[in-house]
Amino acid sequence: MLAPGRAVRTHFPIFSNVEEPFHYLDNGATGQIVDEAADALLYFETGARANVKRGVYPLADAATNAFDAARDTMARYLGAGAADEVVFTSGTTMAINIVAHALAEGLAPGDEILVSGLEHHSNIVPWQLVAGRSGAVLCVIPVTGEGRLDLDALDVLVSERTRVVSVTHVSNVTGAITDLTRIRAAAPHATMVVDGAQRAPHGSLDVQSIGCDFYALSSHKMFGPTGAGVLWGREALLERLPPFLGGGEMIRHVSFDGTSFAAPPHRFEAGTPAIGPVLGMAAAARWMMQQDWQAWALHEKLLTERLLRGLETIDCIRVVGPVGLQERLGIVAFEVDGVHAHDVCQVLGSRGVCLRGGHHCAQPLMDVLDLAATARASLAPYNDSDDVDALLEGLSEVIRRLR
Ligand SMILES: Cc1ncc(COP(=O)(O)O)c(C=O)c1O
Repeated sequence: MLAPGRAVRTHFPIFSNVEEPFHYLDNGATGQIVDEAADALLYFETGARANVKRGVYPLADAATNAFDAARDTMARYLGAGAADEVVFTSGTTMAINIVAHALAEGLAPGDEILVSGLEHHSNIVPWQLVAGRSGAVLCVIPVTGEGRLDLDALDVLVSERTRVVSVTHVSNVTGAITDLTRIRAAAPHATMVVDGAQRAPHGSLDVQSIGCDFYALSSHKMFGPTGAGVLWGREALLERLPPFLGGGEMIRHVSFDGTSFAAPPHRFEAGTPAIGPVLGMAAAARWMMQQDWQAWALHEKLLTERLLRGLETIDCIRVVGPVGLQERLGIVAFEVDGVHAHDVCQVLGSRGVCLRGGHHCAQPLMDVLDLAATARASLAPYNDSDDVDALLEGLSEVIRRLR
């Protein structure tokens, strides 16, 4: 097990390949790839490449076995009841689209889909499309001034017509952790979908104790390659859902008189999957399961505190989101009064400090907060106090030059 901070960097090739100064604080957008994942990807593409679930020659057989093993690994990472509950996707966006479109067939006009004002567009737009098609109504859990969900509103918002609740596990803007237990309890009759994109990089999960029905994550945010992700779904529910995409490998039998579909998870995996990225994602998950996440969470908390306290000392900066350390992760958005977030991030970028600036694909949240954009720092286990201090020093230059 690795101590968090600098020691972790030796497992991430980017830190040997990019020139210093390099303070990567954009992990909410994309985490860096861990050696084990990069190796698995490269090994498959250059030494073990064949399609899966098709050929019977040894190379194809080995690829299929590795792919099956990756499903087992991701099931363990998620705490799933069975490997067949793991559907491989291209990422969180595709995962949510699959479940949204599959659930649409069961929705009637007047049914209600409950999302929240904290959501990433990936957990809003698919449901808007579904609402448009089915006549269902989109309802929204409001956001508090602190950038958390106002769960008191559930008493009014949840009704017998609430058929789906789809919420983020952790806000990609404010870092707030959603009280999923409370939401589950408030809407026990609804199908519960969780967008886990921002939570998945912070250690293994237990979807069964969360009590949700579907959970979505992206490989590239959890130190794996781009292009892969997971939709976890309860077996009994996946069995009832129709496919979203049609094509090879998702069928039982095809004829012009009618086509029957394979059982889950294959029913939801049309076409050749992103085999290398899936194997890399599983390697990243295996690596993550070997780490001491209690120590890593404490490290992240201390860095978050250093950052929040540092930002507090600068008059013209306002943190957008909780300023305390409870029920939050190390995702900190802020605005610099009178300076556009893109300009803030450009000056920081010229100093090797990498932050995201913009609306973070959460325009409804920006509207509620009356903001056009914010800068956002998001932490990972390889970050240390030097990164936070470089950000704070960079902000002094921003203020000196641009205000
Ligand atoms: C909370 C949240 N949901 C969904 C997504 C979309 O993930 P992807 O682009 O990997 O599909 C993101 C990406 O930033 C996110 O932060």
